[in-house]
Parts: sequence; structure tokens; C-alpha cells
Amino acid sequence: MKISENTNIGLPLRNLIGLIGAIVLGAWFAFGVIERLNKLETSDTLFQADLLKKAEQEPKNLELFMLIEHLAGQIESIEKEIEASRYNKVNIDHLKEQVENINIFLRCDLNITENDLSRIDMSIPTINKLLNCKFINKVIICSHLGRPKYREPELSLKNRVLKELESKIKRKIKFIDYDRSLKFPDFYKSDNKIFLLENIRFFDGELNNSEELSRSLSSMCDVFINDAFGASHRKHSSVYGISFLMDSYAGSLMSKELSALTQINSESNGKSALIIGGAKIEDKSGILVNLLEKVDKVIIGGGMIANFLTMNLDNKMRKIFLNNRNKIYLPEDLLVSENFSEHSDKKTINSINYDDSQIIVDIGKKSINSISKLLKDIKVVLWNGSMGVFEWEQCNMGTRSLINLLKERNLKTYAGGGSTIEAINKFDHKSSFEHVSSGGGAFLELLEKGTLPGMENLVKNE
Ligand code: 3PG
Ligand code: MG
Repeated sequence: MKISENTNIGLPLRNLIGLIGAIVLGAWFAFGVIERLNKLETSDTLFQADLLKKAEQEPKNLELFMLIEHLAGQIESIEKEIEASRYNKVNIDHLKEQVENINIFLRCDLNITENDLSRIDMSIPTINKLLNCKFINKVIICSHLGRPKYREPELSLKNRVLKELESKIKRKIKFIDYDRSLKFPDFYKSDNKIFLLENIRFFDGELNNSEELSRSLSSMCDVFINDAFGASHRKHSSVYGISFLMDSYAGSLMSKELSALTQINSESNGKSALIIGGAKIEDKSGILVNLLEKVDKVIIGGGMIANFLTMNLDNKMRKIFLNNRNKIYLPEDLLVSENFSEHSDKKTINSINYDDSQIIVDIGKKSINSISKLLKDIKVVLWNGSMGVFEWEQCNMGTRSLINLLKERNLKTYAGGGSTIEAINKFDHKSSFEHVSSGGGAFLELLEKGTLPGMENLVKNE
């Protein structure tokens, strides 16, 4: 563990009773005496009985308890040093300080959509667990928001996320503004426990995984926790680069996602379908090519239908599409509009009459009937991306009907992605799906490759 030698925060010494408590609990866990903890009242410490029970049920799961175990181990060894120093009559106060001085860099995916805060909700359990852990000194939350071209005010976490996060965790958060020099003096001076860093994509170097940015972020903290499952397919500094530089762990959300999604291959004995929608094919083309082999049917929805109808596809995709015409379903009727505007005129057309001056805003009723027939023998569905612009009343039929269909058929559905979650929350309040993932691209890439860059360096419980 790298104790925060580069911080200049004077921290109060904590009493040894707290330390010894942590060690004893850590040791209990290590020796598998979880039963004895079942009687624990729900306390505000990380050593809650439910967390330990969960860990017991999912022995292979990467969990926050890995971090706790690790920290407890470190504390134990510092304890021994303290003991030894006593006999040598040296000043031991600095050692006690180190034990309490653990700073966490927590990468979340708080990339919320305009109308849906689910990604904040999904990140809360890890944040709360860390805040309640007594030997953690500071937690810096880091996230991206959108794909900023410059420091766009509407993509600032200060404007879009800070207040929401504060109200959900019911405490004040200190905001760390953009600082070109990457020195963040306010953070080092502040007595706060929780911080939110400005949109990490405002910082040079995030997208190209610059060593300078990774080092600078890692120098703020002792331990890295990646809970940003949704961004873990990106080789970015705050997701990937940083994990090479410090002890790195999976947060609760990350663990939950991995244990749910890594089961899919082994359990899909029945036929499977991939439903893929959304506006842009660029993000999904590679994944589509590779996942095509693994599923029995592919259903295309959303704006990307246009790419298939006009054959505006990259060479690889075009070849695969032509060779797999029976496997890939393209909707036969579409709702189209001349302009991308909620109140402009819309009309339903037959797909063969589509021309590329039109904007596809939904699929039609005939297509929903065909999808219903196609799903007849299907047992497992993987779904990412909406059928149309479901945010607009007139254009939500396709996405809403698809959700109803998946529910009625009781299909084992794994869905994921920012706007997909938003649609599920809008049309199926108590989601009946097997798993709703915080990740879109990450969800598909994990299914395709079985791993993600952002999970490569996380400590594994094996
Ligand atoms: C997502 O929305 O899929 C994640 O937050 C990742 O964002 P990105 O696709 O802009 O990298
Ligand atoms: Mg995305």
C-alpha cells in the first residue's frame, strides 16, 4: 500500500481501539467465521452482515471485501511495526496516522442521460460502503459525462451530477474543478471526506490514456476502485492506465455486473437472440460482427437500420451482412421524419421505400409482429439500444412494444446501456429482466471477448 506520503493533509490520530476492531473483524472474515457475524446489527461499518453473506454466496465474485481484507492485512502489519517500535522506544505516532490515512480513487460511470439518473443510483452502494468505512480517509469520485469536444458547461459534473449525488448520499461533496496543472491543491488541503472530480474527459490525456494523467490521478490516492463497468471497455487513463499504478479493486456494481454477465454463456442452452438498436452503428459494428457467430438471431433496430438499408456499412460488416441474411432481421416498416424534431410530421413507410433523406424515428407495427414471431423459439435475449426515439411520445411504440414482448414471453433478458435503461425504467417500472446492465458498449464487449481492459488489473478473488 502506498501511504499518502505526497499529501500534506494533517490528519487526526485515531485511537487504537478502532484499529484493533478492524483487525479482529478482518481476521474473523479471513477464517470464515461469517456465521458469527450474522447476528451483527446493521451498523455503519463496511463489515456488515449482508455484505459478508453476499460474499459467502458468491465466492468467486470480486467484491469490496477484497479491499477490506487487504486494508485489514495492511493495518495488521503496521500494527506489528507499531509494537516493534515501542520496544525500540521510537516515536510511533506517524505509523498510527498511516493506518487511518487511506485515500480511495473511485471511478464510477455517472454518464447519465437527460431524463434518467439510474447510473447515479447504481453507483450509490459502493460510495456509501466506502464512506462508512472508518479507516478510509478520503474518497474521490471520478466519472466522465458525454463526449465533450471542449469544456462544455452542460457536460460539467458540477452542473449535472453534483447536486443529485449529494441528495442521494445525503451529505455535502467537495467539487474538484478542472485544473490544467493537475495539482488539485484544494483536495489536499480540504478536510472533507468525499470529493467529486470534474468530468474527466475535460482533461487532456484521458482518452489517449496518457501516463501523465494516470500518474497524476494515482498520486492523489492509495487505492483504486473501478466501479465504472459501463466505461471499462475504454482504455482511458482513469479506467485503465491508473490500474497499472496502484492497488486496484472492483467496486460492488462492477462485481455484480461481472457475476451476472459472465454466467450468460454457460447458461444459454436454448436459442439466443441479439437485439441491437440505437442511432449510431460506428460504436457497435465491430461488436456486432463478432457476436453474430455466437447467437441464433440478430434483430436490428433504431437509426442504424438506415445503414443496412442503404448498405452504408464498413467492408467487413457488409460482407457479414450479405452472408448472414437469414440470421439478421431488418424491420420491414418504419416511422420516418424529414427532420429530427419531436413535432415534425412523421409517416409510416415500407422499408423498401426508404431513402436516405429520411430519418428513422421508430419501427412499425408489422415489424413488431415479425419480431414477436422471431422470438418464438428464443430463450435468451441480449438487448442494447432502443428501436426509435422513445423519448418522444409519437415514436415510442417500437421500444415500448419490444419491452412488453420480452416481458410477456418471460424471456431471459439481459439488457444494457444508458438509454436502454432509461427506456426500461420508463415502460417497465419494476423491471422483470434477468439483468439490466449499467454498460452498453461494455456489456456487449464483455459478451464478445469475456474480458474488458478496465477489469484486467483488478485484484481477483481466486
Ligand atoms: C456509455 O454510455 O456507454 C458509457 O458511459 C461509456 O461512454 P462512452 O461510450 O462515451 O465511452
Ligand atoms: Mg456508449
